[in-house]
Amino acid sequence: MRRCVIFDLDGTLTASDEGILNCVRHTAQVMGLPLPTSEMEQKMIGPPLLWSFTQLLGMTQQQALKGIEVYRERYNRVGLFENRVYPGIRTLLRMLKMKGDWVAIATGKPTGASRRIIEHFQLNEYFDCIEGLRDDDPPGKEGLISRILPPDCSEALMVGDRKYDIDGGRKAGCRTVGVGFGYGTEQELREAGCDLYAPTVDALIELLCPGMARPLGAFLSMEGLDGSGKTTQMHLLTEALTRYGYEVITSREPGGCPISEKIRQIILDPENSEMEPVTEALLYAAARAQHVREVIQPAVTAGKVLLSDRFVDSSIAYQGGGRELGTEQVASLNAVALDGTLPLCTVYLDIRHEEALRRRYAASQPDRLEREADSFHARVEAAYHQLIQSAPERFVVVDASLSEEEISARCAEQVLARLHAQEVAADG
Ligand code: TYD
Repeated sequence: MRRCVIFDLDGTLTASDEGILNCVRHTAQVMGLPLPTSEMEQKMIGPPLLWSFTQLLGMTQQQALKGIEVYRERYNRVGLFENRVYPGIRTLLRMLKMKGDWVAIATGKPTGASRRIIEHFQLNEYFDCIEGLRDDDPPGKEGLISRILPPDCSEALMVGDRKYDIDGGRKAGCRTVGVGFGYGTEQELREAGCDLYAPTVDALIELLCPGMARPLGAFLSMEGLDGSGKTTQMHLLTEALTRYGYEVITSREPGGCPISEKIRQIILDPENSEMEPVTEALLYAAARAQHVREVIQPAVTAGKVLLSDRFVDSSIAYQGGGRELGTEQVASLNAVALDGTLPLCTVYLDIRHEEALRRRYAASQPDRLEREADSFHARVEAAYHQLIQSAPERFVVVDASLSEEEISARCAEQVLARLHAQEVAADG
């Protein structure tokens, strides 16, 4: 006998408003109608399209049927994926799988579209069943839920963000959990008679898996020469991973926590031009020792994805290569700082040092390190390439001369694949 947990999709596992609203706007445009106001748009998430189009957009019945065709065409092509998994849902699903629960989705969306969304977000292995309403199902979710519940179910839970989920769940004999991070209000869910209420994903995890330790998260880093476009790509990668339901924390080196930020000020202060290369290397390592213990390790233990702007590879490239301290010496003086912590994967934004220099001086006033002669950056670049050759499995190398969108798409695709492979290996 197994516990069965059934989720609604829109507003419970994913936030689908972006795709829905883009498709509504597209439909209005194609049909030559004025764009809906933001007040109208708010009312459109949830109810059937026919109602929204006739009651809110003022279409005739005939226009609305044509509108639905226009909407569906765009929705099935792109709108489906203009969607985001609520951060932490991925962790919850992993935990339910570890517990051995039977897990399903019961949604008002068509089954095919729902499966495509779940596959797109690499979540399919967490579900035993994904089903949408069929034309022959009675209205409401009761029939759908009763149809999919397996015979060996010891306890059934229905989790959803709207009264329809609670109502359908109750009528099908489930205990019901209302969630407050979707499109319904607490009042709506309480009035519908939910047995339990979770205002956040964290609260939902505590309700469904009380006291259970979270699976480990992951540590990622991003590297590149000054001028490689790292700041923009850090931002875009964070956005992409968050969309997939990862709880991402960003940090940076040198820095990332108060003590290390103070060390950063000393290192980057243009007045400290007398600083010996070995002093500089030790200060970077000292800042890292604090960052690893205070920020990186706790984040990974708490199931988060910690993305650091630079890590030990920067020391090996800049102090080992650039300052000519030797890559091995710098690696060995960092060993204590690392405490065995290395990124699951490191994105390297690959740019020629001449091009990086050109971009840097077009952008802003250079700091002390940035003012170094370009031979310094040529050595940094060579040291990075040597590092990548020595650990090719850890690096994701992306050509930084491509467009911002192309770089971002390549980074996200490869990092998501590594994260997913790690989860599959960890979850068995
Ligand atoms: P920062 O302004 O953060 O540069 P960027 O935005 O390019 O990351 O300054 C960090 C500088 O410190 C950068 O020039 C690289 C250098 N650095 C090292 O030399 N060694 C290290 O270990 C780290 C982490 C950074």
